[in-house]
Amino acid sequence: MQIQTTTASPQEFDGDAVVIGAWSDALLPESTASIDRVCGGVISRMIELKEIGTERCDVTSLLGLAGVSVPLVLVVGLGSREDQKPGLAKQVAGTAAKFLGKQARQSVGFFLELESLDQAVAGAMVGCVGQDLFRAEPNLFAFESIIWGGATQDEVDSGTALGESINTARRLINLPASDIYPESFAAECVRLGQACGFDVEVWDEVRLAEENCGAHLAVGQGSAKPPRTVIMRHLKGDPDRPPLGLVGKGVTFDSGGLSLKPSASMLDMKCDMSGAAAVVGAMMAISRLNLPVNVIGFVGLAENMVSGDSYKLGDVLTARNGKTIEVHNTDAEGRLVLADTLDVAVSNGVGQIVDLATLTGACMIALGQDVAGLMTNDQNLCDQVSTAAMSVAEPAWQLPMFAEYGEHIKSDVADIKNVGDGRWAGAITAAKLLEEFVADTPWVHIDIAGPSFLAKPKAWIDAGGSGCFVHTLVELASCQSSSEA
Ligand code: BES
Ligand code: MN
Ligand code: ZN
Repeated sequence: MQIQTTTASPQEFDGDAVVIGAWSDALLPESTASIDRVCGGVISRMIELKEIGTERCDVTSLLGLAGVSVPLVLVVGLGSREDQKPGLAKQVAGTAAKFLGKQARQSVGFFLELESLDQAVAGAMVGCVGQDLFRAEPNLFAFESIIWGGATQDEVDSGTALGESINTARRLINLPASDIYPESFAAECVRLGQACGFDVEVWDEVRLAEENCGAHLAVGQGSAKPPRTVIMRHLKGDPDRPPLGLVGKGVTFDSGGLSLKPSASMLDMKCDMSGAAAVVGAMMAISRLNLPVNVIGFVGLAENMVSGDSYKLGDVLTARNGKTIEVHNTDAEGRLVLADTLDVAVSNGVGQIVDLATLTGACMIALGQDVAGLMTNDQNLCDQVSTAAMSVAEPAWQLPMFAEYGEHIKSDVADIKNVGDGRWAGAITAAKLLEEFVADTPWVHIDIAGPSFLAKPKAWIDAGGSGCFVHTLVELASCQSSSEA
C-alpha cells in the first residue's frame, strides 16, 4: 500500500473513488462543500432528505456525479461536530476504507478535514485489510494507493507507521499456530527489528534454562516446539531515564494442556499471543517514528500442549525470581510464562512495566468483549495508560487489586498456586499472581482477552485479530517522550 498526500481538489482527483465527510450538526466540511457546488447541490439535498446519513460511520455511495472526475464518491457520516468523541478520525476512515475495500481499487482519495489525520491514515490502512491470508477470493481488497487531501507529510508518515504496525500485529495473530510458533515468532521479531531499526535478542530453551525460567519452560515442555523469549530494544531517550518495559504474553497456541480446553473454546486459541503481537507492533511503530524514548519490549513465547512431557497438576515450579508456584490448572499458563518474562524485564532495569495478555475468560465475563481490564500496583501509571487508551478509543477499565485477593492464590505446599479458589474474580487473582513478579516496579497489567480477537467484524475493521493496544502503547510512549523533552 502506497500512502501519499495531494493538493488537488476532491472534484479533480484522478482515481477510483473519493471519500468525503458530513457532520450531523454542522455545515459541510470544505471538501464536501466544494463537490456539492460542482454537482449542483445534490449532496446537501440528499442530506436534507436523509438519503445520506450523517451519524458517525454512516456510509453512502454516489455514482457518476456531474462535474466530478472520479466515478464514485463516498460520503461518510462524521456525527456531531460539537461533541467529537475520541477515535473519530480512525473509525470513520476505517469504515470508508472497509466499505470501498469490498472491490479491488487502485487508488482512493480521502478528503476529510478532521483533527488527527495521522489516525485517519492508520484507520484506512487497517480498514481495507481483511483476515484473508488464506482465501482465494479475499473479503477485502487492500488499495494499491491511498491519497490524502490536506494531510501533511508528517501525518502521512506517522499514520503509515502506525497502520503498518497494527496490520503486522493482526497478521501475526491471524496466522495459524502451525505457522506461528515460538521459533517462527522470534524469527519475525528479528526480521522486523532489521526492517524498523530496533535491536533484537532471542533466548532459546537452553538460555531459558540457564536463566532459571522454570515457570515459562514448564508451560512449553509438552510441545514439540521449544519456547523462546525475545527482547527488543529502542533506547533513543535520555540515557539517565530508565526504560519503559512492555511485556507480552506469547502463547502461540493454548490447548489448555492436561487441563484440556473443550473443542469450542480451543478454536480461536491461536490468538493467545495477541499481547506479544501488540508489543512487537508497538516496538515497530516507536522505532519507525524514532520517538526519543527508552523502551524495551519483552515477549514470552510458548505453546501449551498435551504430551507425555506436559507439565502436570500438582507440579511445583520455581520461577526465575525464586518463588515457587503450585500448578492447579495447566490452562492457567499465561501467568506462568509472564511470571518469568516480567522478572526478566525487572532484571533489565526498566522503570515501569506495562504488560498485555489474553489472560482470562473471567475478564470478558466482567467487562465484555470490547473492553480491556486494567490492574495495577501504581495508580499514577495506570492513569497514564487509561488516558492513552481512552484518547485512541481503545476502551479499558480498571479492576481493584485489594490485598485480600492475594489470599486466594496462597498454596498449601508452595509460595503461591496458579489459580484462585473457585472462579471468583478470576481476572484479578491472575493479576495478583503477576504482581508477585514485578518487585517494586510501577506496573500495569492489561487483560486483552476480550478485544484481541473479534468474533464479528466492526464497521471499521474485519473480524479476527484486532491489533488492539498497539495504538495505546504508541500513544503512551509518545506522551512520555513529550514529558521527557
Ligand atoms: N488464554 C486463556 C484466556 C482466554 C480465554 C483468552 C478466552 C481469550 C479468550 C487463558 O490461558 C486461560 O485459559 N485462562 C483460564 C484460567 C483458568 C484456568 C483459571 C480461563 O480464563 O478459563
Ligand atoms: Mn489457558
Ligand atoms: Zn492462555
